[in-house]
Amino acid sequence: MQHKLFLHQFIIRKKELESTNDFALEFIKSQNPENGTVVLAQNQTAGKGQQNNSWESESGKNLTFSIILRPDFLSASQQFLISILISLGVYDYLCKHVNCVSIKWPNDIYVEDQKIAGILIEHISKGMSLDASICGIGLNINQKQFASHAPNPVSLWHCTKQVYDLDSELNKLLACIECRYFQLKNGKIMQMQNDYLKALYRIGTWYRYKDCKGIFFGKIVGVNEFGQIQILVNSKIRTYNFKEVAFVLH
Ligand code: BTN
Repeated sequence: MQHKLFLHQFIIRKKELESTNDFALEFIKSQNPENGTVVLAQNQTAGKGQQNNSWESESGKNLTFSIILRPDFLSASQQFLISILISLGVYDYLCKHVNCVSIKWPNDIYVEDQKIAGILIEHISKGMSLDASICGIGLNINQKQFASHAPNPVSLWHCTKQVYDLDSELNKLLACIECRYFQLKNGKIMQMQNDYLKALYRIGTWYRYKDCKGIFFGKIVGVNEFGQIQILVNSKIRTYNFKEVAFVLH
């Protein structure tokens, strides 16, 4: 029997935090929490997004939480596998509710051309190994209006016109993530990498992208083990780190 990691165990629920990721970071330093501890906030006053952006989420309408993983079976150089595991868990959960879900590299979750979930993963490494990964997830569930600069937010409510019970959706989502966690722990790395590529937004089709030299046409052909995206341009493959290339949306 596999030990259940997340469900109903070690969930710290807070009415308000600045950021569940920041709380988790302090918690790791002071309390050395168990693998699978979840920190959930009804409201974040300074929710963090990627690239120093903020994360908008109306109080009590969405899921904003961080999972603390202690993946002692991975080395620090394998940290992109955590990104794959979390993205696939959120992707699997959403595929049960809506069509046209995809993972926009590296780990935004999209429904068609709109972003429904954001993931911010912060790693703490100890020498060559991963001491902890703080996996912050913001999933838009019941929010109807978005005020922020984010160009294309969407919620589950927009997709299905249903209002969801956040607690029961959290349990379903954690179950999906847990399933992917055990898949990774059991060494099914190739299968997960394949699933990630299959789910990737815009893979295998020509679109416009932008790098420091300007806009170009390219086709995503893969993502390597370090999480760098591979884009075919004029018969040559270019490899980019996060932030070095942007998707041109229209
Ligand atoms: C992104 O920019 O797409 C990443 C957004 C991540 C938001 C989540 S909400 C829970 C956790 N706490 C934070 O401060 N950020 C992440």
